[in-house]
Amino acid sequence: MIEVSAPSNIALIKYMGKVDSSSNTPTNSSLSYALENFRTTVTVEKNTSPIDEWRPLIGNQFHRIELSSKGKEKFLSHFNLMKKALGLDGFYKISSANNFPSDAGLASSASSFAALTRAAYALKKSMDVSFEISDEGLSTLSRQGSGSSCRSFFSPWAIWDEESAREIKLPIQKLNHHVFIFESGVKKVSSSEAHSRVVQSPLFKTDSNGRSRVERAEKRMSELLASFQEHHWTKSYEICWEEFWDMHELFHTSTPAFTYLTEEVKQTLKKMQSRWKKEGCGPIITLDAGANIHALFRHEDKDLLQSWQAEFEPRIQLGSKVH
Ligand code: DP6
Repeated sequence: MIEVSAPSNIALIKYMGKVDSSSNTPTNSSLSYALENFRTTVTVEKNTSPIDEWRPLIGNQFHRIELSSKGKEKFLSHFNLMKKALGLDGFYKISSANNFPSDAGLASSASSFAALTRAAYALKKSMDVSFEISDEGLSTLSRQGSGSSCRSFFSPWAIWDEESAREIKLPIQKLNHHVFIFESGVKKVSSSEAHSRVVQSPLFKTDSNGRSRVERAEKRMSELLASFQEHHWTKSYEICWEEFWDMHELFHTSTPAFTYLTEEVKQTLKKMQSRWKKEGCGPIITLDAGANIHALFRHEDKDLLQSWQAEFEPRIQLGSKVH
């Protein structure tokens, strides 16, 4: 039996909008930080029945994943693509699970598809040790399953531009990641659906300064890389703040418009911003296509993490549990 795992990642410059949805070709470059502690494990073994099947992976160390029938279809169709790409014969039982609870409101498609891609490769290697594909090659294959998964092959930083995804060296290597969870259920608008709706927003074509979404994202990308190189933490925070709001404004102005932000999330973001301004330090803050607030703290700001948790952790969460 083959068993492999892969990490999730959080984007600071977002992949939102596709040039081609069949190959998940993005409209702009993105930059992500690997979440090494949030992983999906995939196992693959021969199936005696002539079909590929998926089941949740069970184990004390795992949190069970439940895939919808659409989710299973997408997962198995990516496995089929991998079989063709690697020349794998036969039929297989595939199982997967996360080491983080699925109700933690963390998108697991990046880690799931990266782990499935790595598992198919490990299976091929177990049959033919001389078979070689680089991480870049695997990342390109994984992208076909779910775009953001192509960045999960590189750690800690990955850049994904028109060429491919690859590692990018930045001076900050280790950040402390914390998610403030405001919503844990299934999203009403999936990120794949969001990708197709945002291109209809007038802000995608041009904003009040005459810049398109692609121009804004690319400008922020070069400014963010420069600010990391120069150890300019406040500037990095400001760029990431503008970037996630830009993406959410696209959601709010697409047709039909939609939002992930509840009043509570908006209020919390306001308070976080005020605290940052008052103290002149804090974490990088970002949101994906969801209501949960991701915070990345510098190592030297360990004490800040605790006091931010004390101040901003939602009081009511996961089925109205008060803690
Ligand atoms: C908001 O990779 O989930 O998290 O390619 O359709 O599977 P598909 O979309 P997906 O999109 C992720 C969008 C995002 C931003 C990001 O991770 O860059």
